[in-house]
Amino acid sequence: MLNIAIDGPAGAGKSTAAKIIAEKLGILYLDTGAMYRAIGLKALRLGIDTRDAERIAAMLPDTAVTIKYIDGSQNIFLDGENVTPYIRENKVSMAASDVSAIPAVRVKLVELQRDIARNNDCILDGRDIGTYVLPSAEYKFYITATAEERAKRRHKELTDKGVDISYESVLKDIAERDKNDSTRAFAPLKKADDAFEFDTTTMSIDEVVKRLLARINCEL
Ligand code: DC
Repeated sequence: MLNIAIDGPAGAGKSTAAKIIAEKLGILYLDTGAMYRAIGLKALRLGIDTRDAERIAAMLPDTAVTIKYIDGSQNIFLDGENVTPYIRENKVSMAASDVSAIPAVRVKLVELQRDIARNNDCILDGRDIGTYVLPSAEYKFYITATAEERAKRRHKELTDKGVDISYESVLKDIAERDKNDSTRAFAPLKKADDAFEFDTTTMSIDEVVKRLLARINCEL
């Protein structure tokens, strides 16, 4: 199976680029962050402290996270409910980052990710795809951008959706997630030694896609 890994911090352009590439190549796009978001959402709904490793781990045996593709786009189901509309809220982003530091959560979700990658040609985006989930993926990318640029993009995305939030607060959340995600002990956000790295700060999404495709040796 063809597996393409794209890792990097929030707002680097991973998911937008990965979606376009999946469509161009006719392969599956797997947004692994959505899985961590679903677990974070469940903890929030149950009122469980998202950093309480013991209680979160105890919740897992009764937690079912599944992916379904509806009209070509990924939908995430939590205990049978399609929670896709609820996982993008800011508080869910932070909750996802918190629960993703808990090894039991990662073990459960990584198993599901590897299973999908084993059975499908796909492009996956996340934090640890190249280093931990699929260390032998054919193509590995690590994309970054300054925190300010990433916050600007995320702020625009949220305000376009009608969310009332300040740029400063988005920047603060991005910085906090960067720190959380890159300092956790188990499978932190990190460039794989053999990943191709580039900075997207001054690039348009078209340029990012072109750069990725050029590396995958594909005609535009
Ligand atoms: O990609 P995202 O912003 O939707 O991810 C939400 C959180 O989930 C992110 O802050 C860290 C965690 N995550 C992870 O630890 N590993 C992944 N492969 C994907 C996401």
